[in-house]
Amino acid sequence: MFQNFASTQKWELILPLSRLVYFSENQLDPKKGSALSQLSDILSASNRNNKLANITGALVFDDFWFIQVLEGERDVILKTFERLKDDDRHANISLVELIDINARMFGN
Ligand SMILES: Cc1cc2nc3c(=O)[nH]c(=O)nc-3n(C[C@H](O)[C@H](O)[C@H](O)COP(=O)(O)O)c2cc1C
Repeated sequence: MFQNFASTQKWELILPLSRLVYFSENQLDPKKGSALSQLSDILSASNRNNKLANITGALVFDDFWFIQVLEGERDVILKTFERLKDDDRHANISLVELIDINARMFGN
């Protein structure tokens, strides 16, 4: 039921959208397995939670940095941001922007 909200135009009109962008330092620990398997864990939790919360976006990474875009209802993306800020798989999280938007850039 919740997931259908993603395709419901009416819902998008009722709830104003915001976009949050941050970057952080990659702290993936080689002792905890390959980077690929640790990223896969992050992505599966993100996909599951973000779909339920009607959050879209993108996660870009290399050996040193993460850059993430989160789009959705402001309160919802802030709640997600607060949760992921405490994650020790990255550090020194820097907020780049938090703005209201008229339309999503990402459709995932
Ligand atoms: C770089 C990075 C990006 C993340 N992005 C998200 C995200 O977009 N959504 C999310 O729910 N969790 C994200 N997480 C994971 C959260 O910090 C947290 O582990 C997860 O939300 C816990 O979900 P669970 O309680 O369902 O296991 C991210 C973690 C890292 C390190």
